[in-house]
Amino acid sequence: MSSIHQEKLLEVQGLQTYFFTDEGTSKAVDGIDFTVYRGETLGLVGESGCGKSMTSLSIMQLLNRPGKTVGGRILFKNEDLLTKSEEQMRRIRGKEISMIFQEPMTSLNPVYTVGEQVAEVFRLHENLGRKEAWAKAVELLRVVGIPSPEERSRQEPFQLSGGMRQRVMIAMAMACQPDLLIADEPTTALDVTVQSQILDLMKELQQRMGMSIILITHDLGVVAETCDRVAVLYAGQIVEYAYADSIFEHPKHPYTQGLLQSLPSIDQDQDELQAIPGTVPSPYDLPTGCRFAPRCAYRKEICSSQKPELLTTDHGEQVRCWMYSAEWQNTDATCKHNISPLGRSALA
Ligand SMILES: Nc1ncnc2c1ncn2[C@@H]1O[C@H](COP(=O)(O)OP(=O)(O)OP(=O)(O)O)[C@@H](O)[C@H]1O
Ligand code: SF4
Ligand SMILES: [Mg+2]
Repeated sequence: MSSIHQEKLLEVQGLQTYFFTDEGTSKAVDGIDFTVYRGETLGLVGESGCGKSMTSLSIMQLLNRPGKTVGGRILFKNEDLLTKSEEQMRRIRGKEISMIFQEPMTSLNPVYTVGEQVAEVFRLHENLGRKEAWAKAVELLRVVGIPSPEERSRQEPFQLSGGMRQRVMIAMAMACQPDLLIADEPTTALDVTVQSQILDLMKELQQRMGMSIILITHDLGVVAETCDRVAVLYAGQIVEYAYADSIFEHPKHPYTQGLLQSLPSIDQDQDELQAIPGTVPSPYDLPTGCRFAPRCAYRKEICSSQKPELLTTDHGEQVRCWMYSAEWQNTDATCKHNISPLGRSALA
């Protein structure tokens, strides 16, 4: 999207969010670090259950029991959100950090008109009177591409299409010009054409307002179109963190490589797509060493017995995989495949 300014807006450090249930402890988010700079778009990518939504709900502090953030810091404009009271968080949500979700019907109130719901944001956060708030709501609905906004604003959510409802959600999220927008699978429920219209709208609004975006998606195609940098999540941890272009050209982690191979391309038959074998491990019972080891074709003994750390490259990119460590050459192969490590030269 827009160029990256080097001012840090959000720094997530060592974030741990666990669920304490009768079955045990589910380590949904288990030590995640990333930075969002002003004006940039960071993609959070990974298969279902890897912790994308729990990371964003932790930032917003909207976790429901039995979920709890048990470790780390969430520095927003240099202040730790984990130390804020609920009252302080309420003022931050919507005004400084906004969030949009996959299914707008769960966030929109079915019994109020969409105009009233957008106007309510202005009334709450900007103390505007009823008339003024309504006028601003109609104007904003026009900005997000709702046709005939004067009429549409008098309609209830169910009278609008999925794409139009998502535009209303974007209008509500943008009303107070937040510094950060967290969009959790904002286009997954929409068809491809509407999907790209919504992404274009987000880009346009970002350029106009200079905000930062965290875009959560399982779709690497969406990332390619929209993000400056990408954090690939697996089983509650970041396994690769890099510039979007670089991830597409030289994916380093075997999991990222697998995700890319399962991405449909124009000249590829749907049947030829290679899904990653196996499934994501249970967050109640994570593998001892590398969490991807049970599914990895490059696996060696060290992978199953010892946890790989995140290694940082010359360019500040990161990968969590033994293959890029000095130890790798000296370890015995336990897998049958004879594959040489990829992209080692790019690493420090
Ligand atoms: N109420 C809960 N109790 C126990 N564990 C939970 C609960 N809610 C979520 N989790 C665990 O948290 C993990 C991460 O979930 P999260 O919703 O963040 O995944 P996600 O990456 O957003 O997946 P998706 O792509 O399906 O939205 C899951 O593996 C799930 O088991
Ligand atoms: S550490 Fe080993 S098992 Fe894990 S991704 Fe790297 S090569 Fe595969
Ligand atoms: Mg999710």
